[in-house]
Amino acid sequence: QAPERDVIVRYDINDYKEKTDLSATKLFTLMYATLRSYRDINIIEASRRGLVRVIESSAEMFKEQFLDNFANGVLKQVSSLLAGGRDVAFSLEDAAAVTHDKKEMTLVAGTGRFAGNVGGSAWDFFPARVAAAIEEHRERGRGEYGFWVGGSYVGMVVGNSGRASILYLVGEGKPAEIDTHLIQIFVRNVLIAVENLYLRNALIDTQREVVYRLAQAVETRSKETGNHVKRVAELSKLLGREMGMNEYDAETFRLASPLHDIGKIGIPDAILNKPGKLTNDEFTVMKSHAELGYDILKHSDRELLQVAASLAYEHHEKWDGSGYPQGLKGEQISLVGRITALADVYDALVSRRCYKEPWPEDDVHALLRDEKGKHFQPELIDAFFRSLPAIREIYTRYRDDADEGGAA
Ligand SMILES: [Fe+2]
Ligand SMILES: [Fe+2]
Repeated sequence: QAPERDVIVRYDINDYKEKTDLSATKLFTLMYATLRSYRDINIIEASRRGLVRVIESSAEMFKEQFLDNFANGVLKQVSSLLAGGRDVAFSLEDAAAVTHDKKEMTLVAGTGRFAGNVGGSAWDFFPARVAAAIEEHRERGRGEYGFWVGGSYVGMVVGNSGRASILYLVGEGKPAEIDTHLIQIFVRNVLIAVENLYLRNALIDTQREVVYRLAQAVETRSKETGNHVKRVAELSKLLGREMGMNEYDAETFRLASPLHDIGKIGIPDAILNKPGKLTNDEFTVMKSHAELGYDILKHSDRELLQVAASLAYEHHEKWDGSGYPQGLKGEQISLVGRITALADVYDALVSRRCYKEPWPEDDVHALLRDEKGKHFQPELIDAFFRSLPAIREIYTRYRDDADEGGAA
C-alpha cells in the first residue's frame, strides 16, 4: 500500500482515499470542494485578464498628451474594458473629466453630452445629486474616492489643498462586481494622469504668461501697441505651418515670438523713443538690440527660449544678405528668423505708429512683392499671399482699437 503523503506530493492527485473511506458523504465533500476551487480559479483568472486590460488601457491613456483627446481616450478605454467582460450589465454613454479648485468645478474634457461644454462650469451640466455627492466627498479631504450615483460612477482624487480631479462616467445599468473593481482601478490611474496633465498645463500657461508679460514690458517702453506682439505671434505660427512646420514646432514658435525685440530693454529711451530720424550712431545703437536679445536668451536650455534666442538674433537679417547683425544670407537664416522678419515688417506697415499712419493694404502688398527675393525669401512671400484670408482674420481679431482678445 502506497503511503498517502508520498502519492499526493509526487503525483497530480489532490486527495487520497482508501477503499474503506469512500462513503457517499466523503465523495460529496470532495467533489464540492473541488468544484469550489475550480470556481475560484476562474474568478482569479478573470481578474487577472481584467487587470491586464486595465494596465493596457492605462498605458494607452498615458500616451494622450492633450486633454481634449484625453476624454475620448477614457471613454474608448472604459468601453473596451467593460466589453471584455462576459455578461456586461453596464453600458457607458458619456464621460467627463473635471477639475475642482474649491470655487470652480471646470470641465476639462468630455464626450457625448459634455463634449460641447469644455471650459464651462460642471455645476451646469452635472445632475444636482451627483454634484452634491462630489461636494460631500471633497469635504472629507485628501484621499481617493469612488462611488456610484444611480447608474453613474464617480471617481475622484482630492489633494492636500482641497483641489480635486474628478472623472464622471454616465452609463446604464450596474456592472458586475468584478467590473466595478476594474473601473475603480482604471479611474484611479486615469485621475493620476489628469492631475499630471493639469499641472503640466498650469506650467505651460505660466511660461506663456511670463514670456508675454516680459515682451509687453518691452513693447510698452518702446510705445508700440500691446497687440503688435500678439499679431506677430499669430502671423508667425500661421506662416510657419504654411511653410511646413509641424503643429508642435509652430506652436513653440508662436509662444517664443513675443520675445523677438527683448533686446530693446538695453536701448536708452532717448534713442528708442526719438520722434525724428536716428543719426548713424544712434541707429548703430538701435541695431544692437538683436544681439542683446540673443545674449539674454542664448544660455537657456529651454526649447522655447532657444527658439526665442535665434529669432531675436535673426529677425533683422535679409534673404539677400543685406540685413544685420550678422549679414546672414538665404537659408543661413533660420526659418523662424525669416518668418519673424516678414511678420514684424508687415505688422509695422499696416499699423499706426507714432511716426506713421497705417499703409493701405495694396501698397503693403506691392512692397512685399517688390522685396521678394531681396528682403524676404520668395517661397515665404508665396506662402503669405496664399494665407491672406487667414491673415485678415488675425487682423480682425487683434485690431489695435479692439479689446485684448485671446491669449498671447
Ligand atoms: Fe527688432
Ligand atoms: Fe516687433
